[in-house]
Amino acid sequence: MMKNSFFLRKFIPDFSNISPPSKFLKLQCLYFYTSQAASPVYSQVGSDDEYADIDWDAMEFGLTPTDYMYTTKCTQQEDGFPQGQLNRYGNLELSPAAGVLNYGQGIFEGMKAIRREDGQIVLFRPEQNALRMKVGADRMCMPSPSVTQFLDAVKQTALANKRWIPPPGKGSLYMRPMLLGTGPILGLGPAPEYTFLVYASPVRNYFKEGSAPLSLYVEQEFDRASRGGTGGIKTISNYGPALRPLMKAKTKGFSDVLYLDSVNGKYVEEVSSCNIFMVKENTISTPPINGTILPGVTRKSIIEIARDLGYNVEERPIPVEELLEADEVFGTGTAVVVASVGSITYHSQRVEYRTGDNSVSKRLMSTYNGIQNGVMEDNKGWMVEIR
Ligand SMILES: Cc1ncc(COP(=O)(O)O)c(C=O)c1O
Repeated sequence: MMKNSFFLRKFIPDFSNISPPSKFLKLQCLYFYTSQAASPVYSQVGSDDEYADIDWDAMEFGLTPTDYMYTTKCTQQEDGFPQGQLNRYGNLELSPAAGVLNYGQGIFEGMKAIRREDGQIVLFRPEQNALRMKVGADRMCMPSPSVTQFLDAVKQTALANKRWIPPPGKGSLYMRPMLLGTGPILGLGPAPEYTFLVYASPVRNYFKEGSAPLSLYVEQEFDRASRGGTGGIKTISNYGPALRPLMKAKTKGFSDVLYLDSVNGKYVEEVSSCNIFMVKENTISTPPINGTILPGVTRKSIIEIARDLGYNVEERPIPVEELLEADEVFGTGTAVVVASVGSITYHSQRVEYRTGDNSVSKRLMSTYNGIQNGVMEDNKGWMVEIR
């Protein structure tokens, strides 16, 4: 216990001389955020009011630092993580030799806390994220928090930052649990110490009213994942290499990249940060989870919703040529929820798809949002109320 609190004092910036946010502290929290990417909407912080003093309508889908983050740490030898604690949100102090910095030993999760019209704060299937973190931790030779501990940490962080949870319909509090090899290591090997932390940022809904559907570019020069690699887990080391193809696609005017399998360069895998589905008549198809595709929580849920709505859903390899013949294509993920794809460009061929009010993706999205917002019955017990 002593050891743990000693670590936390060293590891977390010392804000002990600063009282918790109060209405007298407007602007003071800016001190904590000096190295963060500035976003104009958080220029006014610190209030005991029900809501943080920001313009919820001007909020972007980007980082807005909040008040608190959860942290706990353990060594390779210890039997799991001790109870963590909430500290003021701030920078980490790390050894330059930290495993995560040198060898990319880190994984993360992404989920949302939502405020409903009746004031309830809810999470969507958070145990799925906890389980995915466990699988990822095992692949990356890291100890992982138990499911209970993961849920507790997310819940504590969401409630501590409750004033940052947007009003109903304006967005959500994006929760970012991270598991990092923070101990120093020079030779290649698992780090001697690990940190599990959770921070949060309010985000607007990814798609604003009237946003354009996605325009995807089929990537053929770069692969996202290889057979036997780490495509199926949410390791930080999957995302850096995805930047070059993403920037290439954006430079050409596309909104995102669609990856093909690395063995044949033939089968559709996924988009940079969402899973992909195609619709042909009454059948919805999506690539199977085979180790190279991230098993999305949204993907899994949309498959269930679609079956309940009477669609025939298939998980099977989809040749890119077949995708070009689809009626409709959409992506799924925590950030985008269900994003309709307006066009896909493969070689120099550009194919357009059905979008809009009569699309299947719109119907799936309405059901999914209805369950999350509490206007439709949650007969699967997906929603977890934390307040
Ligand atoms: C590569 C990748 N695929 C798919 C997803 C969608 O996963 P989820 O639905 O759990 O957000 C994500 C987002 O986490 C992702 O990064």
